[in-house]
Order: sequence, then structure tokens, then C-alpha cells
Amino acid sequence: MMNNTIRVFVSRRIPAIGIDLLKKEGYQVELWSEDRPMTTEELMKAVKSADILLSLGENKLDTDFLQQNKHLKMISQFAVGYDNINIPEATRLGIPVGNTPDVLSEATADIAFGLTIAVSRKFFFNHKMIIEGGWGSFKPMAYLGQELSGKTLGIYGLGAIGIVMAQRCRGAYNMNIIYCNRTVNSIAEQKFDAVRVSFEELLGQSDVLSVHSVLSDETRGKFNAAAFKQMKPSSIFINTARGGIHNETDLIEALNSKTIWGAGLDVTNPEPMHKDNPLLSMENVAILPHIGSATVEARDGMSRLAAENIISYLNTGIIPHCVNPGAIQ
Ligand code: DGY
Repeated sequence: MMNNTIRVFVSRRIPAIGIDLLKKEGYQVELWSEDRPMTTEELMKAVKSADILLSLGENKLDTDFLQQNKHLKMISQFAVGYDNINIPEATRLGIPVGNTPDVLSEATADIAFGLTIAVSRKFFFNHKMIIEGGWGSFKPMAYLGQELSGKTLGIYGLGAIGIVMAQRCRGAYNMNIIYCNRTVNSIAEQKFDAVRVSFEELLGQSDVLSVHSVLSDETRGKFNAAAFKQMKPSSIFINTARGGIHNETDLIEALNSKTIWGAGLDVTNPEPMHKDNPLLSMENVAILPHIGSATVEARDGMSRLAAENIISYLNTGIIPHCVNPGAIQ
């Protein structure tokens, strides 16, 4: 196939760096230009004449979508997460899927680290209190937070982002690191004396429990009432991975009943969170609108990787970051 006959459809405006790379290869690049996610119908229609889809997490690429678009040569996801795509079905249909790991690890770990401090010292609650005119006299017994020095950070899913979070917490607060993973992370064990523990031990021992795993059948709803009950009453729950990994109703109840002390979320379920959600008015809670990778550096990196995955596949048959290599014959 000549490069100038290859059509790439990009489902949302992304940084120019990747688009420029695709155009430089001579591909025909078509962009969704509206500042809103495409509906499934709009995406179905747009992808019909495309060879490659450069997708975002907001695009639901389920069995039906994939079966109706089995002509796609590849899907290149502008994200590290790919829980919006039915990967087994894509593999069955021979559609390889690329993603964009590593380039967003620093940015996302910063959000986990920032939320940890924000919750421990009630930043968001106090900010709101000032805006609402509530800053009165110095109160010796009010707004008391917790210090983080020497405490235990528990990481659920210790991969590229979790390791940066471990580094931040170790460097700033000399925190002890424990983690729950399917596999041993020897880098974390060597560099940060991290100790691999069971899920129950993670729940019982963490002062700060930070979620960095993928959303899968195994992790969906993992942090529920039963899990929160096993955590310390002084503990802080942080989730910057996917909102589906915790049960929001159970989290609200755990905070209301003081089963756990606080929570910081960059991901919620559903997204966007409703403005009347009780979590938004809790003293020991900090919520952000899924901005883990929202830095110029990370988004440029994601755009570049998403394009490089496509270019490499078309030129060499290899996708540098492929989530389902089994799809490539
Ligand atoms: C990711 O890359 O998975 C981020 O959550 C942005 O969607």
C-alpha cells in the first residue's frame, strides 16, 4: 500500500507533534475537530473509510464496534490504559492495539503524590472554606491533618507509574514501601526496599494506599466495603488509575463511618463526577478531574508515541508498544 493511500482517523484533537509525524509519512490524516467526544454513531461512520484509528479512552471500542470495523489494520490508543477496548475481540479479529506507556508516568505519579499531601493536610477543603468566607480566627484544634514522614505507602499495581510514586514518597518522606502485584518488582525492591505483600497485608499495613493497576475483570470493584474495613482508620486511599477499581458508594460510606481517614481521587465512577457528589464536600477528600497525564510534556509524548506506533507498524510490522502482540501474524 502506498503511504498516500493510507487513511488515519484521529478521534479527538491531540498535540500536533504526532499528527505532524503522520503527515510527514504521507498518510491522509483526518481529525475530529469538535471539542467533545464523538458519539459511537459518529465514530462508526468516520472509521468506515479509515485504515487506522487513533483512539482515546473515551471511545468505546466494544465487540460490536470492532466486528463492524474489522477492516481496521490497527488501533493506536492515545493513553496507557485501554480498558475502553475489547482486547480479546481485537486480537481475535487480528487488529493490533498500541498504547502510550512511560511518557506519562512522572505526570501521573505527581498527581498521586500531590493528592496524598492535599488529603493529609486538607488542602481542598480549606481552599473551599476560604472562598466561602469561612476563614475566621486561628483555631488550635481545627483542620488538623496527618504527617507522612516514616509512614507506610502501599502500592496496588506496581508498574511504571507506581515506581515513580514510590520514589517520590521515599525521597520526600522516607516512607516504607509495600506493594501488591502479580509479579515481583525487583527494581522497587532494590532501590526502595519495597516489600511484596498479599492484598490483605496491603490493606492492613498501608497508611497511604495508592492504586496504580489497570482496570480489568480482576481489579473492577476491588476496593469495596470489605476491603475498606480491613484498612487502618487513619489510612488514606488514593486512586489515579481508573474509577472502576473502587466502589464509590462503599468509599463514601467508609469515609462517613471513619472506617478510613481520607481519600484522593483523580479518577471517579462515573466520570465526570456529579457536582453534588458527597465526596466533594468532605474535609479529608481531594478530587481532580482525571488530569494524571495533563502536562505539556506527557501529552506531547503520548501524541508522539501514538504516531510512532502506527508508523513503525506500517514500515516494519512491529508496534513498539503493543498490548496484544497475538493479533499480529
Ligand atoms: C491514560 O493514559 O490511561 C490516562 O488515564 C489518560 O486516559
